[in-house]
Order: sequence, then C-alpha cells, then structure tokens
Amino acid sequence: MRELSMHILDLAQNSIAAGASRLEIEVAADTNADRLVISLQDNGRGMAPDFVSRVKDPFVTTRTTRRVGLGIPMFDAAARACDGRLAIQSSPGKGTYLAATFKLSHIDRAPLGDIASTIVTIIAVNPDLHLRYTQRVDDKAFIFDTDELKTQLDGVPLNEGPVLKWIGEYVKQGTSEETEIN
Ligand SMILES: Nc1ncnc2c1ncn2[C@@H]1O[C@H](COP(=O)(O)OP(=O)(O)O)[C@@H](O)[C@H]1O
Ligand SMILES: [Mg+2]
Repeated sequence: MRELSMHILDLAQNSIAAGASRLEIEVAADTNADRLVISLQDNGRGMAPDFVSRVKDPFVTTRTTRRVGLGIPMFDAAARACDGRLAIQSSPGKGTYLAATFKLSHIDRAPLGDIASTIVTIIAVNPDLHLRYTQRVDDKAFIFDTDELKTQLDGVPLNEGPVLKWIGEYVKQGTSEETEIN
C-alpha cells in the first residue's frame, strides 16, 4: 500500500469486524530515535494465542468471503521492509493491541498519507464507535476523541455531513505543523 493511513483504515476495519466499541489509534514519531510507531488498541473479541501466532501468515482469516487475509500480513511486511516489526497482543474477550515500528527515515517507508480522511471514513461508517486518535512528534501531541466531541454536540450524530466535514478539517489542521508526519 502506498500510504500508512490506508493500512490504518484496514486495521480499524478488523477492530470493527471484531465487535469493538472502542478504538485507540496512535501514530508517534521519535525523531531522535529515528522511529515511527503505529499502534491500535481495541476492545473487540480478541484472538486466541495460537491464532495470534499464525495471523501474520497471509492465509489466515476468519472471513468467509475471501480465503486470504491480507491486512495484518501486509502491515507486518511494510514494517519489516523498514527495519521494523509488527507486535500483536490479544486476549479473547478483552481486545487486541497491534504496534508496528518503522525506521522513520527509511527510504521504503510509505508516507502517512491522508489520515484525516481515514478518521472521517471510520466515523462515517461507525458513528457510535468511541475513537481516539493521537499523533505525536517527540513531545508534541495532537489528540482527537469522539467522546469529547459528542458531549459538545449534544445528541447530533457524528455521521452528519457538516460534523464529518468539521472533523476532517480539525484533524487535518491538528496534524499539520508541530505534529506533522510525512
Ligand atoms: N483487531 C482484531 N480483533 C480480533 N480479530 C482480529 C483483529 N484483527 C484481525 N483479526 C483476525 O485476524 C484475521 C486476519 O486479519 P487480516 O490479516 O486483516 O485479514 P482479513 O481481515 O482479510 O481476514 C481476521 O479475519 C480476524 O479473524
Ligand atoms: Mg483485515
């Protein structure tokens, strides 16, 4: 995939397919360590230990529409190509944590891409999901949290056009300048 935000969208879909009501996504760049970490934590149904040990293999899927699962293997391959790795911790009934590391300056590291559109897409399809997105560059952080927004919106659904437009602009603005990751 050409952009890391597309991987994030794909992995968010896994969380939602696993019944998650809560999803925390973090993209953190450490310029001194020359490292980028992308992590997702959900409260979905989780995976059994033997399944976790096999899930980086492209033929492991619980979907019935297509016999090959590719989201996790492709994310793992992207990290490995950039001197990194994908770590997965999951417990059945509790949730799943995925964290991929990349060498930030690696020539093969895909750009983060349009993370604002990714966030908007996730919310448009799952307006009741509690989503928290954090983007960090060293000690600077931008945080967008759907629950904080919901208290301000007083019952207006997050998937209303003007709300989605606002979210897109807010995330785009917040992830530029001090916390920008290319
Ligand atoms: N966050 C998650 N929570 C629970 N199960 C997951 C999660 N992510 C992936 N899985 C399991 O791993 C399988 C493989 O995922 P993936 O590589 O993205 O392929 P696909 O989504 O096409 O099946 C999924 O079918 C699902 O059973
Ligand atoms: Mg998937």
